[in-house]
Amino acid sequence: MNVLILGSGGREHALAWKLAQSPLLQQLYIAPGNAGTALAGTNAAINCNDFAALADFVLTHKIEMVVVGPEVPLVDGIRDYFDNHQKLREVLLVGPSAAGARLEGSKDFAKQFMQRHRIPTAAYAAFGKGETTEACQYLRKLKPPYVLKADGLAAGKGVVITEDYQEACQSLRQMLDEDVFGKAGHRVVIEEFLKGIEVSMFVLTDGKSYLLLPEAKDYKRIGEGDTGKNTGGMGAVSPVSFARGEFMQRVQQQIIQPTIEGLRVENILYQGFIFFGIINVDGSPYVIEYNCRLGDPEAEVVIPRIKSDLAGLLWALRDQSLHRHILQVDERHAASVFLVCGGYPDAYEKGKIITGLETVRESLVFHAGTLRRGNDIVTSGGRVLAVTSLAATTAEALKLSYKNIDKIGFDKKYCRKDVGRDLLPFEG
Ligand code: AMP
Ligand code: GLY
Repeated sequence: MNVLILGSGGREHALAWKLAQSPLLQQLYIAPGNAGTALAGTNAAINCNDFAALADFVLTHKIEMVVVGPEVPLVDGIRDYFDNHQKLREVLLVGPSAAGARLEGSKDFAKQFMQRHRIPTAAYAAFGKGETTEACQYLRKLKPPYVLKADGLAAGKGVVITEDYQEACQSLRQMLDEDVFGKAGHRVVIEEFLKGIEVSMFVLTDGKSYLLLPEAKDYKRIGEGDTGKNTGGMGAVSPVSFARGEFMQRVQQQIIQPTIEGLRVENILYQGFIFFGIINVDGSPYVIEYNCRLGDPEAEVVIPRIKSDLAGLLWALRDQSLHRHILQVDERHAASVFLVCGGYPDAYEKGKIITGLETVRESLVFHAGTLRRGNDIVTSGGRVLAVTSLAATTAEALKLSYKNIDKIGFDKKYCRKDVGRDLLPFEG
């Protein structure tokens, strides 16, 4: 089959790397892709939010399956666009309808959905434009830290957590009155603060049944010891030692199954990946957030641990036959460390030549912010490369990634040295 992947990050390179290994695959395209995806397939210079241009490409290249990496096209209704387009109806688009993508596109919707289906999550209240005073009064009743979330998509920047009441009110004013996140902040969710360790869980669902993919933990802050600014992700590991036994039973019974069932009974078309951001509060799982896609950098450890033919599993969404499949998982541990440009997540320079990629042997290198320029591969974003390794333990996988990172060079290269370290004492 001919497949088109949408997106241009490390997640999409990992998807391309995996799908390229499928016996079902004929041609693989990535729009717009990066220098790494071009090693697995053919890049097409199309913006993944330009549905009309994508439709043309799908028809001319006889694409049978489109796999959507990022959230924006899904929240904007690419699945509905394909389903309503007479010539595209036969194409399988892996991803939820706009109604399903609201689980990520509207925090208020997600919270209401969880309440309707009794899915454990932090207590909350939501406020709209013109309700800043009421929102600040509500905050008075809560104990700090205060958790505020812009309702809509804000590229990972829409969450404010602060101990300070004045700062919380100021953030509310910025979102509700001063439009810092545009429309995304015209409604704000205020949540109870939950204390615990986070884990990212993923399922693939055809709308009836689901397969639980390997779990992962990501490292979001720029600095070691989880300090400094938030980033798009500095690394990830899988498996996560506490995600087993009774905790996982609870996750499946209290969170995953009621989510799939809730979508079904509400007639919300959902065929694709669901990302559950879960926090472990003294052994009880709570949902922090839903995403309507795979995570990044989590995909760079989750996908390499999938042994089954992913193209075959995705194709099963077409006739809702996922229940006939099982997921084979590589028992080895995966660790991925991101190389970023010095300065990121603030200002940084682009166009730096990357050296040593061809010398990496024992790790997988997934490209994110890279571009081919003549014979060179150069940096084109803040997060540049994810170096993933598989080994018997997380410690060994990390060692391999750091060893291979030393072989890769570019001006002002930076990575966190402590990815996965917090989990090592629990590895046993
Ligand atoms: P979100 O975009 O909803 O995933 O929030 C970003 C990050 O903020 C999460 O990964 C958590 O680390 C933190 N966070 C969000 N909601 C809460 C909460 N209710 N309690 C504690 N931490 C939270
Ligand atoms: N790693 C979190 C995300 O993809 O949103």
